[in-house]
Amino acid sequence: MEKVTLVFVLCFAAMVPSLVADFAVYDTVWKQRAEEARNMTMEYYVPNTDIIANETFDDPSALDLIDASGNSTRRNLRQGKRRYRGPCEATNPIDRCWRCRPDWEANRKQLAKCALGFGRRTTGGLDGEIYVVTDPSDCDVREPKPGTIRHAVIQKRPLWIIFARSMNIKLSQELIVTSHKTIDGRGANVHISYGAGITLQFVTNVIIHGLHIHHITPANGGMIRDAEDHFGLRTRSDGDGISIFGSTNIWVDHVSMSQCHDGLIDAVQGATAITISNSHFTHHNDAILLGASDSFAGDQMMQVTIAYNHFGQGLVQRMPRCRWGFFHVVNNDYTHWLLYAIGGSKHPTIISQGNRFIAPDAFHLKQITKRDYAAESEWKTWSWRSEGDAFMNGAYFVQSGDPNVKRPHRKYMIKPKHGLYATRMTRHAGALDCRRGRKC
Ligand SMILES: *[C@@H]1O[C@H](CO)[C@@H](O)[C@H](O)[C@H]1NC(C)=O
Ligand SMILES: *[C@@H]1O[C@H](CO)[C@@H](O)[C@H](O)[C@H]1NC(C)=O
Ligand SMILES: *[C@@H]1O[C@H](CO)[C@@H](O)[C@H](O)[C@H]1NC(C)=O
Repeated sequence: MEKVTLVFVLCFAAMVPSLVADFAVYDTVWKQRAEEARNMTMEYYVPNTDIIANETFDDPSALDLIDASGNSTRRNLRQGKRRYRGPCEATNPIDRCWRCRPDWEANRKQLAKCALGFGRRTTGGLDGEIYVVTDPSDCDVREPKPGTIRHAVIQKRPLWIIFARSMNIKLSQELIVTSHKTIDGRGANVHISYGAGITLQFVTNVIIHGLHIHHITPANGGMIRDAEDHFGLRTRSDGDGISIFGSTNIWVDHVSMSQCHDGLIDAVQGATAITISNSHFTHHNDAILLGASDSFAGDQMMQVTIAYNHFGQGLVQRMPRCRWGFFHVVNNDYTHWLLYAIGGSKHPTIISQGNRFIAPDAFHLKQITKRDYAAESEWKTWSWRSEGDAFMNGAYFVQSGDPNVKRPHRKYMIKPKHGLYATRMTRHAGALDCRRGRKC
């Protein structure tokens, strides 16, 4: 995830002499983007000013929706994703904002009004026209062909990007997305797989919705177009599914992710105002990394909401792993981990509310939390709080720090329900099978 923006290699100058004079220009373009992005981080960071009195939770024992079988059985543990065949249902506030309307297709942009949590101001391509991707190829990354996803994401104007049909897109290099875009996979079965991943670097206001992203591999880099009017030499990409680098107002929703070479999602370098919701993560070691460096204090501004996701089969660790910033982990369903679920270093604040955690059977894996590079005398001051979580099969959360730690204004803190609701709230996590003319 440590990504070097651009390398100006001399052999390139020798190869393309006419571009020599432009090097300073390229350099300026990325410097300018970095500066704008830093300003965005300041603008969208929300100060921690509220002392929220202890959250109250509905009494879950009164509910018949609970099929919680306690700790005695793993029956309630979803093995993979069961196919739901019932009528359309929206089981959490984000989904209720747009799902189950028969006209979802005519009204796709309704989605732009539905983000919650720290990424709630994200509207993506709301102000833009629709761009229909018709061509799954990715042959020319410097002069992308019209109709390809790469041609769509380099446009400087806002765009709402959709897909004409189901397709597998094998990216030959990282897909460098510009600001004010929505990538909306609804209505098609779109897989980004067996190639490079998606990069959001120094951008703002991007929605990624309804994609399957898996088997992402590193790519060697090279000359890649990163805007209509700019391209440059990129170093190797690491093989992250989605890399969020110094970017703000990012909302990842209803994405299915597995088996990437590096992380599934990384957010680094002061990236903030991010919500990752309704997604289904499986078969991966390092799932979500939020902050990559113990020495980069700029990540203190990182504020990320992880809500309504299902952390499922074959996951090992980092769901998420946090540094420095403020992380709200709310109403997720954790059914598998092989090392730990939530971890971190460098005194992050982690508020875990209304999640369900089912520990693995092995007796030494029951602890949900893991602190790195700090003795207890140090980490006991980090605010890691568990409120309204449901613990099964012996799972336990080691709390630390001040229960009254200041939090951002409550409009950025999704109101939790008790963890025993998490299974229901995440039932439709992952990319949805939305068909034209039918409720989604
Ligand atoms: C960033 O903010 C500083 C201070 O407000 C301002 O002087 C500068 O012009 C801004 N830079 C950009 C690229 O917007
Ligand atoms: C919340 O609960 C904790 C632990 O029960 C208690 O120490 C703390 O004072 C409470 N905070 C408020 C604001 O009521
Ligand atoms: C399950 O819970 C019961 C009581 O609710 C307890 O007696 C038992 O030891 C628990 N089993 C495990 C494996 O934690």
